[in-house]
Amino acid sequence: MKLIDCVERTAERLESAGVAFGHGTTNAFDEAAWLVLWRLGLPLDALDENAGRGLDASELAAVQALVDERIASRRPAAYLTGEAWLQGVPFDADERAIVPRSLIAEPLVDGTLEALLGREPHQVLDLCTGNGSLAVLAALAWPECRVLGTDLSAEALALAQGNLTRHALADRARLRRGDGLAALRADERFDLVLCNPPYVNAESMSSLPPEFRAEPALALAGGEDGMSFVRPLLAGIAAYLRPEAALVLEIGHERAHFDAAFPGLEPLWLATSAGDDQVLVLTREQLTSGEARSR
Ligand SMILES: C[S@@+](CC[C@H](N)C(=O)[O-])C[C@H]1O[C@@H](n2cnc3c(N)ncnc32)[C@H](O)[C@@H]1O
Repeated sequence: MKLIDCVERTAERLESAGVAFGHGTTNAFDEAAWLVLWRLGLPLDALDENAGRGLDASELAAVQALVDERIASRRPAAYLTGEAWLQGVPFDADERAIVPRSLIAEPLVDGTLEALLGREPHQVLDLCTGNGSLAVLAALAWPECRVLGTDLSAEALALAQGNLTRHALADRARLRRGDGLAALRADERFDLVLCNPPYVNAESMSSLPPEFRAEPALALAGGEDGMSFVRPLLAGIAAYLRPEAALVLEIGHERAHFDAAFPGLEPLWLATSAGDDQVLVLTREQLTSGEARSR
């Protein structure tokens, strides 16, 4: 069987099994290509050049076993392969942290955040760093900057440390365990704060597909309206921002809950591949205006 036929057959199997996507791919074909190429030890961006390559019986059996596991376990592909890619950068991935997919990576890598700041940031905070993907992307984007990644989960931080080492960034990027803003020292100040917090509201949490339930609940659950982490964040983060600094916050599909919690705030909403109301920017001025205190 040719590799492309194997990918198409795998995509049909994934589709008919009803697996959920959203952990690095958005459709059955891309997920199938990922699984097949990875199982065969081929580069994940090398589908076209290998499309006509023939697979022998043992290769087919190996692919079949991996796809069987994906369907039976419903674990995201990144947990099965141990690796996820974000903006072309590879990261170690496993159950200690969610599969990296933050939309904040888009404006970070395409230059939007630097244009908004008007300069390269020197001190960046990645609050809720998970496996460290945004901390790594920030450090790669701004070679002079120092990055602090914080998280409540010691397991996630252990995974993040591996990713900093993998990208030779351990000298410029540090990690610290702590609960929200309590992780920060009183005299610390940042030019840019990135935060992809737990923001899934309670109703959505109760109906998550199994692939998302395979991820740490601590990383997803944002309380009744998804804003449990965001409220104290917006009330307190200004104290840690330099005068021209900004907070970049991902809230996913919780725009309605955000607007209800902070009716007076008028953030700048950034366009992303998932929509124009999932990532927002707040300046220090906005955060000190009083409107950042929630209802
Ligand atoms: C949505 S994940 C984001 C991870 C990573 N930044 C990314 O984009 O892939 C949220 C992270 O927040 C962490 N977290 C949850 N509650 C926290 C808290 N109270 N203080 C600090 N981190 C927390 C979780 O452990 C998880 O790693």
